[in-house]
Amino acid sequence: MLDEMLKEFYDIGKSLSSEKDTLKLFEKIINSSLKLTSADAGTIYIVIDRKTSEWSHIKNGSTRGNLLKFVISRNTSMNVNLQDYTAPISKKSISGFTVISGKSLRIDDAYKICDEVEYRHDHTFDNNTGYRTKSILSIPMKNHDNDITGVIQLINKKHSWKDAIDYDKNDAADGILPFNDTDELIMNSLAGQAAVALENNQLYRDMQGLLKVYKEQNSHLIYLSKNIMKAHEEERKRIAREIHDGPAQSAVNLSFKLEICKRYLSDGKMDDLVSEINNFSDSIHSTVKEIRTIIYDLKPSCLEDGLISAVQRYIETFSTSGSINIDFTYSGNDSAIEYYLTSTIYRIVQEALSNVRKHAEADNINIELVITNTRITLDIIDDGKGFVVEELKTRKFDRLKGGFGLEGIRERVELIRGDMTIQSTPGQGTELHIAIPLL
Ligand SMILES: Nc1ncnc2c1ncn2[C@@H]1O[C@H](COP(=O)(O)OP(=O)(O)O)[C@@H](O)[C@H]1O
Ligand SMILES: [Mg+2]
Repeated sequence: MLDEMLKEFYDIGKSLSSEKDTLKLFEKIINSSLKLTSADAGTIYIVIDRKTSEWSHIKNGSTRGNLLKFVISRNTSMNVNLQDYTAPISKKSISGFTVISGKSLRIDDAYKICDEVEYRHDHTFDNNTGYRTKSILSIPMKNHDNDITGVIQLINKKHSWKDAIDYDKNDAADGILPFNDTDELIMNSLAGQAAVALENNQLYRDMQGLLKVYKEQNSHLIYLSKNIMKAHEEERKRIAREIHDGPAQSAVNLSFKLEICKRYLSDGKMDDLVSEINNFSDSIHSTVKEIRTIIYDLKPSCLEDGLISAVQRYIETFSTSGSINIDFTYSGNDSAIEYYLTSTIYRIVQEALSNVRKHAEADNINIELVITNTRITLDIIDDGKGFVVEELKTRKFDRLKGGFGLEGIRERVELIRGDMTIQSTPGQGTELHIAIPLL
């Protein structure tokens, strides 16, 4: 008999620790409890957080913020299906008392509980079903840290777990035994194992959740790195094109000019030679200028003084070369903003302003740059002729010619986990809003 019990107990321990399905785990705990104690019925309650409904626990009897949730019930003599319910934890109920006191409770007859104790048996279930609750064993489930995570409540000990009690008979209660010391000992140990198994089960579920988030983030990273590579590739193409159309073209022209000079020299046309050499020198200057512009564009030196001053200086040059009035307001400190963010935002300002000049026919532009510890927001608002934003989607743009372009802005803002919105109504100007997180 004892051997059989030990074996059962050992098997239960093993199967509890390997069960991944929470519902099956509850079933295993309750079935094993009934078998080991020959109880007729049993119920498991767990402690949950009142707000989140997540599994919780009770420390030192403090029930604040927690509820008791009924999770499973078994009845070997009667077929009952109880609905899920939660209840406040109170010392007036047997399960509540067990959770708060952290001690197991043995009642020999639920209808003969003495007046001195705080808890009472709730007869509602018996009254509704014709069941007769007599002996009760209520065991707290304690985790590794001795915090209470729930209760296993067993009802009506039978002579053998295979027996069934016929509650229609008047003397049904006579055959019911009180739970004994051994039952209490075994159940305390089982409840401990059950609590740890449930906690592991929850950890397992948390880990599954984390894994899912990790997988999602990973695929987002793959998406982003593809986009970064694409953006780099486009940038390289753009630079190649600029060099091809600019300095490379100029160098070819210079070699033509040199040929002309040689011809003048061999023909002895000295006046023509001098004028061609002057011309040649001008061309070299303009070629050097072209190269410098490309270099400057690759790494504008003004960015080294920080975002605010870079934007300010860009606005100054922009204003002097046109008739659009710009109002720039800013707040915050740009000293901690990394170079790649400064450069991205600077390019956005460049593109947005050049769009206003090219397309908007605006009189005024309002630019607001706000830097906080957690984010940067940039708003660029013009009072120009506006456009239908929806039409952008159907238009095909030559990305290389368009440079950064609105789509380019959107992609780059996404790469740095920011948001971009563009609002425009024909006749009512255009608003570009950018928000970039700094954390
Ligand atoms: N501030 C603006 N005011 C009016 N129209 C604009 C403005 N900004 C952009 N647009 C419209 O959106 C289109 C797309 O802009 P963009 O992507 O920068 O390409 P591009 O400037 O090369 O045409 C422009 O062609 C123009 O019609
Ligand atoms: Mg543009």
